[in-house]
Amino acid sequence: MRIHNKKKSALSENKVTPESVYRQRRHLVQGLGLGAAAFSNGASAGFLDSLFGGDKETQPTTRAMAKTVPLTFTQPKAYQLDIPVTAERVATSYNNFYEFGADKSDPVRYAQQFKTRPWTMTISGEVDNPHTIDVWAWLEKQQLEERIYRHRCVEAWSMVIPWLGVPLANVIKAANPTSKAKYVAFETLYDPEQMRGQASRFIGGGIEYPYVEGLRIDEAMNPLAMLTVGMYGKTLPPQNGAPVRLVLPWKYGFKGIKSIVHIHLTDKQPPTTWNKSAASEYGFYANVNPQVDHPRWSQASERVIAEGGLFGSERQPTLMFNGYQEEVAELYRGMDLRKFY
Ligand code: MTE
Repeated sequence: MRIHNKKKSALSENKVTPESVYRQRRHLVQGLGLGAAAFSNGASAGFLDSLFGGDKETQPTTRAMAKTVPLTFTQPKAYQLDIPVTAERVATSYNNFYEFGADKSDPVRYAQQFKTRPWTMTISGEVDNPHTIDVWAWLEKQQLEERIYRHRCVEAWSMVIPWLGVPLANVIKAANPTSKAKYVAFETLYDPEQMRGQASRFIGGGIEYPYVEGLRIDEAMNPLAMLTVGMYGKTLPPQNGAPVRLVLPWKYGFKGIKSIVHIHLTDKQPPTTWNKSAASEYGFYANVNPQVDHPRWSQASERVIAEGGLFGSERQPTLMFNGYQEEVAELYRGMDLRKFY
């Protein structure tokens, strides 16, 4: 990533939200019995504000924010974490989404008009059942899970986020992969009219668009890999990758491609955006590894993003595979992780 040193931040809320506070809000939503069906896309931001107990001060800008809609979901025990969850406003206003600009505050500022309905996502390639998914209709039929995951950016900062989604494996299985399917490639929408960073190389950080990512098929089938449609009990805001993105908690955040339109199974390792941009800095695997430094900075520790972005945050040691060693170490047995970074 292009690292910018920034003195000023759009954030003004203090620290992270204690998990108990986040849970109280969430139970309020669930207690009111609000599911996806209870709202149309027209739920007003003001209404959601009042629902969340006067979160007005948590709105990062005074511009009209895109609407998010409460979702219903289960909370599998295996994916709850007993550590403080990042404040919602911090996670939704300190972002990387270069299609809207390379500064952390650009996505929340410039993505609010991004059209995410209707949205289709194709699944193609080495599959017996290629098909097109109408994402919003599909979403209504999903049993969504809430998973609280650590989120570690290659830039050495981290958050803890309650995501909503389904195992990526469910979607891949529904396409019936052939025996030649060794890798899965993902692609973000290409629409320079809506995405200012795609229209200007300068604004878009000089990377090539559309943004593309990839996984080995066994990584994609790992139960931790999540196709994500929401966070904090609601649909994803545009700056976080609405309407559908990847979340891979054991990998650096750049693997978590946003606003996906294509999933393609293939027999060859697919190209990935940051690897094309700087191969010596960003590998295909990008597993969180405190023992393998980025050529320009250490990965041994990370800043926990809170008030004031990087400058208001505390440092903590980074965990191997971001703390998910038990679930994923087997995928990389026998591989030299310095070579396959
Ligand atoms: N996906 C697209 N299409 N474009 C991007 O610029 N940035 C990546 C990833 N997915 C990015 C993307 C990076 S570098 C990170 S760290 C995460 O999104 C950030 O996700 P967040 O903003 O929800 O924290």
